[in-house]
Amino acid sequence: MSPSSSQPSAQSKILNALRNARGKPLSGHLLGKELGISRAAVWKRVEGLRKSGYQVESYPRQGYVLVGEPDTPTASAVAGYLQQDVLASGLFSPDKIQFFTTLDSTNIYAGKIAREGAADGTVVIADSQSAGRGRLGRVWDSPSGVNLYFSLILRPAIEPRYAAQLTLLTGLALAESIREFGADDVEIKWPNDLLLGGKKVAGILTEMAVEENQVQFVVVGVGVNVNVEISGLTEEIGKIAAVLSDHLKKKVKRSAFLADFLNRFLGWYRLYLTDGFASIRSIWLDRSRIKGRRVQVNLVDESFSGTAVDLDIDGFLLVKRDDTQKEAKVLAGDVLLLNKDS
Ligand code: BTN
Repeated sequence: MSPSSSQPSAQSKILNALRNARGKPLSGHLLGKELGISRAAVWKRVEGLRKSGYQVESYPRQGYVLVGEPDTPTASAVAGYLQQDVLASGLFSPDKIQFFTTLDSTNIYAGKIAREGAADGTVVIADSQSAGRGRLGRVWDSPSGVNLYFSLILRPAIEPRYAAQLTLLTGLALAESIREFGADDVEIKWPNDLLLGGKKVAGILTEMAVEENQVQFVVVGVGVNVNVEISGLTEEIGKIAAVLSDHLKKKVKRSAFLADFLNRFLGWYRLYLTDGFASIRSIWLDRSRIKGRRVQVNLVDESFSGTAVDLDIDGFLLVKRDDTQKEAKVLAGDVLLLNKDS
Protein backbone atom coordinates (compact mmCIF):
# COMPACT_ATOMS: atom_id res chain seq x y z
CA MET A 1 0.00 0.00 0.00
CA SER A 2 1.64 3.25 -0.98
CA PRO A 3 0.25 6.66 -0.20
CA SER A 4 0.12 9.49 -2.68
CA SER A 5 2.02 12.16 -0.80
CA SER A 6 2.66 15.73 -1.86
CA GLN A 7 6.30 15.83 -2.84
CA PRO A 8 6.69 19.15 -4.67
CA SER A 9 6.63 18.01 -8.29
CA ALA A 10 6.48 19.75 -11.66
CA GLN A 11 2.83 18.66 -11.79
CA SER A 12 1.90 20.33 -8.51
CA LYS A 13 3.84 23.45 -9.50
CA ILE A 14 1.85 23.61 -12.74
CA LEU A 15 -1.35 23.12 -10.76
CA ASN A 16 -0.45 25.98 -8.43
CA ALA A 17 0.44 28.24 -11.36
CA LEU A 18 -2.90 27.46 -13.04
CA ARG A 19 -4.75 28.12 -9.78
CA ASN A 20 -2.97 31.43 -9.31
CA ALA A 21 -3.75 32.47 -12.89
CA ARG A 22 -7.47 32.39 -11.92
CA GLY A 23 -8.84 31.59 -15.38
CA LYS A 24 -6.21 33.42 -17.44
CA PRO A 25 -4.56 31.11 -19.99
CA LEU A 26 -0.96 30.12 -19.22
CA SER A 27 1.14 29.08 -22.19
CA GLY A 28 2.96 25.76 -22.20
CA HIS A 29 6.05 27.58 -23.38
CA LEU A 30 6.06 29.96 -20.40
CA LEU A 31 5.27 27.23 -17.86
CA GLY A 32 8.05 25.10 -19.32
CA LYS A 33 10.50 27.99 -19.14
CA GLU A 34 9.70 28.65 -15.48
CA LEU A 35 10.08 25.00 -14.53
CA GLY A 36 13.05 24.30 -16.79
CA ILE A 37 11.21 21.62 -18.77
CA SER A 38 10.05 21.31 -22.40
CA ARG A 39 6.56 22.16 -23.70
CA ALA A 40 5.99 18.47 -24.31
CA ALA A 41 6.88 17.77 -20.67
CA VAL A 42 4.37 20.42 -19.56
CA TRP A 43 1.72 18.78 -21.73
CA LYS A 44 2.49 15.41 -20.11
CA ARG A 45 2.02 16.93 -16.63
CA VAL A 46 -1.24 18.57 -17.71
CA GLU A 47 -2.42 15.16 -18.95
CA GLY A 48 -1.50 13.80 -15.51
CA LEU A 49 -3.65 16.47 -13.88
CA ARG A 50 -6.54 15.59 -16.17
CA LYS A 51 -6.21 11.92 -15.24
CA SER A 52 -6.47 12.94 -11.57
CA GLY A 53 -9.78 14.65 -12.30
CA TYR A 54 -8.67 18.25 -12.88
CA GLN A 55 -10.45 19.90 -15.79
CA VAL A 56 -7.83 21.77 -17.78
CA GLU A 57 -8.82 23.32 -21.07
CA SER A 58 -6.31 24.08 -23.84
CA TYR A 59 -6.74 27.19 -25.96
CA PRO A 60 -4.67 27.23 -29.18
CA ARG A 61 -1.89 29.86 -29.05
CA GLN A 62 -3.02 30.97 -25.58
CA GLY A 63 -2.40 28.08 -23.22
CA TYR A 64 -4.00 26.13 -20.41
CA VAL A 65 -6.84 27.17 -18.11
CA LEU A 66 -7.93 25.31 -14.98
CA VAL A 67 -11.73 25.18 -15.06
CA GLY A 68 -12.51 22.55 -12.44
CA GLU A 69 -10.91 20.59 -9.63
CA PRO A 70 -11.86 17.14 -8.35
CA ASP A 71 -13.29 16.91 -4.91
CA THR A 72 -10.85 14.32 -3.67
CA PRO A 73 -9.07 15.12 -0.39
CA THR A 74 -5.63 14.13 -1.66
CA ALA A 75 -2.53 15.33 0.15
CA SER A 76 -1.87 18.10 -2.35
CA ALA A 77 -5.52 19.20 -2.46
CA VAL A 78 -5.62 19.48 1.35
CA ALA A 79 -2.18 21.10 1.58
CA GLY A 80 -3.35 23.75 -0.89
CA TYR A 81 -5.81 25.05 1.74
CA LEU A 82 -3.55 24.90 4.80
CA GLN A 83 -2.78 28.22 6.43
CA GLN A 84 0.75 29.55 6.32
CA ASP A 85 1.31 29.14 10.07
CA VAL A 86 0.16 25.52 9.91
CA LEU A 87 2.59 24.85 7.07
CA ALA A 88 5.31 26.61 9.05
CA SER A 89 4.49 24.75 12.28
CA GLY A 90 5.71 21.46 10.81
CA LEU A 91 2.98 19.51 12.68
CA PHE A 92 0.77 18.89 9.66
CA SER A 93 3.32 19.58 6.94
CA PRO A 94 2.27 18.36 3.47
CA ASP A 95 4.82 15.55 3.47
CA LYS A 96 3.07 14.06 6.52
CA ILE A 97 -0.31 13.86 4.78
CA GLN A 98 -1.04 10.45 3.28
CA PHE A 99 -4.00 9.83 1.01
CA PHE A 100 -5.37 6.43 -0.01
CA THR A 101 -8.18 5.63 -2.40
CA THR A 102 -9.28 2.96 0.03
CA LEU A 103 -8.18 1.49 3.37
CA ASP A 104 -9.77 -0.94 5.79
CA SER A 105 -9.77 1.83 8.40
CA THR A 106 -7.64 4.97 8.67
CA ASN A 107 -7.40 4.31 12.43
CA ILE A 108 -6.06 0.79 11.88
CA TYR A 109 -3.53 1.97 9.29
CA ALA A 110 -2.50 5.00 11.37
CA GLY A 111 -1.97 2.70 14.38
CA LYS A 112 0.20 0.41 12.29
CA ILE A 113 2.47 3.14 10.93
CA ALA A 114 2.58 4.88 14.33
CA ARG A 115 3.95 1.65 15.84
CA GLU A 116 6.53 1.66 13.05
CA GLY A 117 7.54 5.20 14.00
CA ALA A 118 5.36 7.56 11.90
CA ALA A 119 5.87 11.17 12.95
CA ASP A 120 3.76 13.30 15.28
CA GLY A 121 1.24 15.10 13.05
CA THR A 122 0.90 12.40 10.39
CA VAL A 123 -2.52 12.60 8.75
CA VAL A 124 -3.98 9.49 7.10
CA ILE A 125 -6.92 10.09 4.76
CA ALA A 126 -8.97 7.53 2.84
CA ASP A 127 -11.57 8.19 0.17
CA SER A 128 -13.37 5.07 1.36
CA GLN A 129 -13.01 2.46 4.11
CA SER A 130 -13.93 -1.20 3.95
CA ALA A 131 -13.95 -1.65 7.74
CA GLY A 132 -14.52 1.84 9.17
CA ARG A 133 -14.78 1.67 12.94
CA GLY A 134 -17.08 3.58 15.22
CA ARG A 135 -17.09 3.83 18.98
CA LEU A 136 -18.15 0.89 21.13
CA GLY A 137 -17.36 -1.63 18.38
CA ARG A 138 -19.79 -0.13 15.87
CA VAL A 139 -19.27 0.03 12.12
CA TRP A 140 -18.71 3.41 10.45
CA ASP A 141 -20.25 3.31 6.99
CA SER A 142 -17.63 4.74 4.59
CA PRO A 143 -18.71 5.01 0.94
CA SER A 144 -16.28 6.54 -1.58
CA GLY A 145 -16.31 9.98 -3.18
CA VAL A 146 -18.58 11.71 -0.69
CA ASN A 147 -17.42 11.93 2.92
CA LEU A 148 -14.31 12.44 5.00
CA TYR A 149 -12.48 9.66 6.85
CA PHE A 150 -9.15 10.56 8.37
CA SER A 151 -6.90 9.91 11.36
CA LEU A 152 -4.28 12.05 13.06
CA ILE A 153 -1.24 10.52 14.73
CA LEU A 154 -0.28 12.58 17.77
CA ARG A 155 2.50 12.05 20.25
CA PRO A 156 1.70 14.30 23.22
CA ALA A 157 3.62 13.66 26.44
CA ILE A 158 0.55 12.85 28.54
CA GLU A 159 -0.71 10.09 30.79
CA PRO A 160 -3.25 7.68 29.26
CA ARG A 161 -6.11 8.94 31.45
CA TYR A 162 -5.89 12.31 29.70
CA ALA A 163 -6.19 10.97 26.14
CA ALA A 164 -9.98 11.46 26.18
CA GLN A 165 -9.32 15.20 26.41
CA LEU A 166 -8.06 15.07 22.82
CA THR A 167 -11.50 13.87 21.72
CA LEU A 168 -13.07 16.97 23.26
CA LEU A 169 -10.47 19.26 21.71
CA THR A 170 -11.09 17.63 18.31
CA GLY A 171 -14.82 18.18 18.79
CA LEU A 172 -14.24 21.89 19.34
CA ALA A 173 -12.24 22.22 16.11
CA LEU A 174 -14.77 20.14 14.15
CA ALA A 175 -17.71 22.18 15.42
CA GLU A 176 -15.92 25.36 14.36
CA SER A 177 -15.31 23.99 10.86
CA ILE A 178 -18.90 22.85 10.50
CA ARG A 179 -20.02 26.34 11.56
CA GLU A 180 -17.49 27.98 9.22
CA PHE A 181 -19.01 26.08 6.30
CA GLY A 182 -22.44 27.44 7.15
CA ALA A 183 -24.12 25.22 9.75
CA ASP A 184 -24.50 27.63 12.68
CA ASP A 185 -26.67 25.23 14.62
CA VAL A 186 -24.05 22.50 15.09
CA GLU A 187 -24.08 20.95 18.57
CA ILE A 188 -21.30 19.14 20.43
CA LYS A 189 -22.43 16.07 22.35
CA TRP A 190 -20.17 14.42 24.91
CA PRO A 191 -17.84 12.86 24.22
CA ASN A 192 -17.44 12.52 20.47
CA ASP A 193 -20.49 13.48 18.44
CA LEU A 194 -21.28 16.52 16.35
CA LEU A 195 -24.97 16.96 15.72
CA LEU A 196 -27.11 18.85 13.23
CA GLY A 197 -30.81 18.96 14.00
CA GLY A 198 -30.21 16.40 16.76
CA LYS A 199 -28.67 13.88 14.31
CA LYS A 200 -25.05 12.87 13.99
CA VAL A 201 -23.01 14.60 11.28
CA ALA A 202 -19.55 13.63 12.55
CA GLY A 203 -17.93 11.27 15.03
CA ILE A 204 -14.52 10.90 16.63
CA LEU A 205 -12.77 7.68 17.61
CA THR A 206 -9.67 8.19 19.78
CA GLU A 207 -7.38 5.21 20.32
CA MET A 208 -3.92 5.03 21.88
CA ALA A 209 -0.86 2.94 22.61
CA VAL A 210 0.54 3.06 26.13
CA GLU A 211 3.82 2.07 27.73
CA GLU A 212 4.68 2.48 31.40
CA ASN A 213 1.72 4.76 32.05
CA GLN A 214 2.83 7.10 29.27
CA VAL A 215 1.07 7.62 25.97
CA GLN A 216 3.25 6.43 23.06
CA PHE A 217 0.86 7.79 20.48
CA VAL A 218 -2.76 8.69 20.07
CA VAL A 219 -4.77 8.11 16.89
CA VAL A 220 -7.66 10.53 16.56
CA GLY A 221 -10.02 9.22 13.88
CA VAL A 222 -12.67 11.50 12.42
CA GLY A 223 -15.57 10.66 10.14
CA VAL A 224 -17.74 13.43 8.69
CA ASN A 225 -20.89 12.96 6.62
CA VAL A 226 -20.06 15.66 4.10
CA ASN A 227 -21.87 15.04 0.81
CA VAL A 228 -23.40 11.57 0.95
CA GLU A 229 -26.98 11.41 -0.40
CA ILE A 230 -29.38 10.85 2.48
CA SER A 231 -31.40 8.60 0.17
CA GLY A 232 -28.32 6.40 -0.26
CA LEU A 233 -28.12 5.64 3.48
CA THR A 234 -29.69 2.58 5.00
CA GLU A 235 -33.00 3.24 6.74
CA GLU A 236 -31.39 2.59 10.12
CA ILE A 237 -28.52 5.07 9.57
CA GLY A 238 -30.78 7.59 7.82
CA LYS A 239 -32.80 7.91 11.04
CA ILE A 240 -29.81 8.96 13.13
CA ALA A 241 -27.43 10.59 10.62
CA ALA A 242 -27.21 14.15 9.36
CA VAL A 243 -25.28 15.20 6.25
CA LEU A 244 -23.61 18.59 6.00
CA SER A 245 -24.47 19.22 2.32
CA ASP A 246 -28.08 18.18 2.89
CA HIS A 247 -28.32 20.61 5.81
CA LEU A 248 -26.73 23.44 3.80
CA LYS A 249 -28.43 22.59 0.49
CA LYS A 250 -25.08 22.76 -1.28
CA LYS A 251 -22.06 20.50 -1.77
CA VAL A 252 -19.03 21.03 0.44
CA LYS A 253 -15.47 20.67 -0.84
CA ARG A 254 -13.91 17.91 1.23
CA SER A 255 -10.28 19.03 0.89
CA ALA A 256 -11.16 22.58 1.96
CA PHE A 257 -13.16 21.29 4.94
CA LEU A 258 -10.37 18.98 6.09
CA ALA A 259 -7.75 21.72 5.80
CA ASP A 260 -10.00 24.12 7.71
CA PHE A 261 -10.27 21.50 10.46
CA LEU A 262 -6.47 21.02 10.59
CA ASN A 263 -5.95 24.79 10.69
CA ARG A 264 -8.28 25.05 13.68
CA PHE A 265 -7.13 21.87 15.38
CA LEU A 266 -3.56 23.15 15.48
CA GLY A 267 -4.64 26.25 17.42
CA TRP A 268 -6.49 24.19 20.05
CA TYR A 269 -3.74 21.60 20.25
CA ARG A 270 -1.08 24.24 20.82
CA LEU A 271 -3.19 25.77 23.60
CA TYR A 272 -3.64 22.30 25.11
CA LEU A 273 0.09 21.54 25.05
CA THR A 274 1.06 24.87 26.57
CA ASP A 275 -1.78 25.57 29.04
CA GLY A 276 -3.24 22.11 29.66
CA PHE A 277 -6.88 21.08 29.55
CA ALA A 278 -8.34 23.74 31.87
CA SER A 279 -8.92 26.42 29.22
CA ILE A 280 -10.22 23.87 26.70
CA ARG A 281 -12.59 22.51 29.38
CA SER A 282 -14.29 25.83 30.03
CA ILE A 283 -14.68 26.62 26.32
CA TRP A 284 -16.01 23.12 25.64
CA LEU A 285 -18.54 23.51 28.46
CA ASP A 286 -19.61 26.86 27.11
CA ARG A 287 -19.99 25.67 23.50
CA SER A 288 -21.63 22.31 24.27
CA ARG A 289 -24.17 23.98 26.58
CA ILE A 290 -24.37 20.61 28.33
CA LYS A 291 -24.61 21.94 31.90
CA GLY A 292 -28.13 21.50 33.13
CA ARG A 293 -29.20 19.35 30.14
CA ARG A 294 -31.37 16.31 30.82
CA VAL A 295 -29.55 13.20 29.62
CA GLN A 296 -29.92 9.47 29.42
CA VAL A 297 -26.71 7.52 29.97
CA ASN A 298 -26.43 4.05 28.42
CA LEU A 299 -23.57 2.01 29.85
CA VAL A 300 -22.72 -1.58 29.00
CA ASP A 301 -24.48 -2.92 32.09
CA GLU A 302 -27.02 -0.23 33.00
CA SER A 303 -28.88 2.87 31.85
CA PHE A 304 -29.96 5.84 33.88
CA SER A 305 -31.31 9.31 33.38
CA GLY A 306 -30.19 12.47 35.08
CA THR A 307 -28.92 16.00 34.67
CA ALA A 308 -25.48 16.81 33.28
CA VAL A 309 -23.80 18.99 35.89
CA ASP A 310 -20.20 19.41 34.77
CA LEU A 311 -17.13 18.11 33.01
CA ASP A 312 -14.42 17.02 35.42
CA ILE A 313 -10.79 18.07 35.03
CA ASP A 314 -9.97 14.91 33.05
CA GLY A 315 -12.80 15.53 30.58
CA PHE A 316 -15.32 13.03 31.93
CA LEU A 317 -18.99 13.93 32.21
CA LEU A 318 -20.56 14.33 35.64
CA VAL A 319 -24.25 13.47 35.78
CA LYS A 320 -26.59 13.79 38.77
CA ARG A 321 -28.61 10.60 38.63
CA ASP A 322 -32.39 10.83 39.03
CA ASP A 323 -32.55 7.53 40.92
CA THR A 324 -29.83 8.05 43.54
CA GLN A 325 -29.54 11.86 43.40
CA LYS A 326 -25.78 11.25 43.46
CA GLU A 327 -23.20 12.43 40.99
CA ALA A 328 -21.90 9.75 38.59
CA LYS A 329 -18.75 10.10 36.53
CA VAL A 330 -19.38 8.84 32.99
CA LEU A 331 -16.17 7.39 31.55
CA ALA A 332 -17.57 5.74 28.43
CA GLY A 333 -20.93 4.79 27.01
CA ASP A 334 -23.61 6.67 25.13
CA VAL A 335 -25.18 9.88 26.30
CA LEU A 336 -28.52 10.86 24.77
CA LEU A 337 -29.74 14.43 25.08
CA LEU A 338 -33.31 14.45 26.36
CA ASN A 339 -35.94 17.14 26.10
CA LYS A 340 -36.01 19.57 29.02
CA ASP A 341 -39.08 18.06 30.68
CA SER A 342 -38.22 14.37 30.26
C1 BTN B 1 -18.16 7.25 16.37
O1 BTN B 1 -18.85 8.26 16.48
O2 BTN B 1 -18.61 6.15 16.67
C2 BTN B 1 -16.75 7.40 15.88
C3 BTN B 1 -16.67 7.32 14.39
C4 BTN B 1 -15.28 7.51 13.87
C5 BTN B 1 -15.18 7.18 12.40
C6 BTN B 1 -13.83 7.53 11.87
S1 BTN B 1 -13.77 7.45 10.11
C7 BTN B 1 -12.06 7.66 10.14
C8 BTN B 1 -11.53 6.87 11.31
N1 BTN B 1 -11.26 5.52 10.91
C9 BTN B 1 -12.10 4.65 11.47
O3 BTN B 1 -12.11 3.42 11.26
N2 BTN B 1 -12.92 5.29 12.30
C10 BTN B 1 -12.65 6.70 12.33
